[in-house]
Amino acid sequence: MSLLQEEREIILSNEYVDSFDFAEVTEFVRNASKELFISHHFKNKAKDKMLVQPRGGFPTYEKQFALYEFFEQANVDVLPLTIDSNTRLNDYATAAKMLRLSEENDMDMLNGYPLISHGYRTTRNMITHFNKPVSLRHGTPDAGLLIETAIASGIFEIEGGPITYLLPYSKNFPLDKAFLYWKYVERVCANYSELNEPINRESFGPLTATMVPPSITIVIQLLEMMLSLEEGVKSFSVSFAQQGSMLQDIVTGQVLRKLAKHYAEQIDCGDAAIHLVYHQWMGAFPTNKDYAEQLINQATIIARMSGADKIITKTREEAAGIPTKEANAKTVANTQYTLRILNGLPEVRDEEEEEILTAEVMAIMEAVFNDPADTLWRKVFNSIKNGIIDVPFSPHIISFNEMITVRDANKNIRIIKRGNVPIPDRCYDYERSQCDLSKDTTDIVNDIVHDIGIMQ
Ligand code: 5AD
Repeated sequence: MSLLQEEREIILSNEYVDSFDFAEVTEFVRNASKELFISHHFKNKAKDKMLVQPRGGFPTYEKQFALYEFFEQANVDVLPLTIDSNTRLNDYATAAKMLRLSEENDMDMLNGYPLISHGYRTTRNMITHFNKPVSLRHGTPDAGLLIETAIASGIFEIEGGPITYLLPYSKNFPLDKAFLYWKYVERVCANYSELNEPINRESFGPLTATMVPPSITIVIQLLEMMLSLEEGVKSFSVSFAQQGSMLQDIVTGQVLRKLAKHYAEQIDCGDAAIHLVYHQWMGAFPTNKDYAEQLINQATIIARMSGADKIITKTREEAAGIPTKEANAKTVANTQYTLRILNGLPEVRDEEEEEILTAEVMAIMEAVFNDPADTLWRKVFNSIKNGIIDVPFSPHIISFNEMITVRDANKNIRIIKRGNVPIPDRCYDYERSQCDLSKDTTDIVNDIVHDIGIMQ
């Protein structure tokens, strides 16, 4: 038996799993409907048809089923399965207890769907019933069991990664362990990809959704992509979120797509399919629900201008909490409508911005590759530890936290203090020249606070 299979048997002999049947799951994936694979939809969609995907997870099977019925009515392209926080943190006992309470009291005691507690046999009934691709949205650093259960259920897109599912979400979960746990996920996805259409992996570009400069977002997207392709994954989505400036988003999309292809080829993985995903605004939302709809609508336009293959939606209820199925489905229908009426968009380019962003990303990538460690994940680990990669506003103790960003007059996010991030001097000078740095520190701090709440 291979080492990976031995590891899988240990992970799946968990007391919360009701007898995992490897042979049956393999046959299921081998014969599964192509419609369930987002990789199949990416391959066959019309070039400019962006796939629309909401988020959504309720504790009980019945409520999740009802949510999917609403999404189906709203002409959804990709269904979500958002996992609850207890399951995300591997606390299956509490998830099971809260699921029971939710069922008994007709009240949601979890903030998502407890996939392990429902199990793959039950969940697969729902997923094959709707026969649409489902995307797993979680936030789990140790996701081995969750991913095995998801794939056995018919979920063939897995979001996350060792950096993007840790630095925004955790204070002290060890980063080196996260890299190893995700290596397992990549291998399982790569293995299953040989049976039918490929399993798609997607990185989580929004990170903290708070003043992250595009160079840092892109570097982390590229590195998670490389770590995944290295293990044999054949379909991967890089992503980023609306940043506050239309031009900066368009440039980010162009540079991200171009460099993803470049670095995939560098490691002889040019045969992998790479997709671009855009998140509607992920920062603090306006409490005014009509304004929220305007923001969402604007994001859809920018996604098209940025050439995204898929958009992930927000709802008018974002500032208040988990959306109702009605509000959630409404956004999907509205986004599809906006996409349908968006015709004849001009192509926008800014060669100077594109050149500077490309140079920044390549300089940081070069510094990561030059770390003396022997494997890519260790190089990345060291680079995060020593601040070559620095994610603003990460709560994680490993975060270097020396980089400072502020918005310029056009609301582009600019780096005014680079810390240990090897931004080339001429790029750094350009970024700083866009900002008014004659202000005193208190004014700049006030500006940053204002910049975080820009959409409120
Ligand atoms: N249902 C719908 N949306 C959810 N989100 C988180 N949990 C759920 C859920 N159970 C959305 C929120 C949050 C984003 C990261 O995911 O919009 O801001």
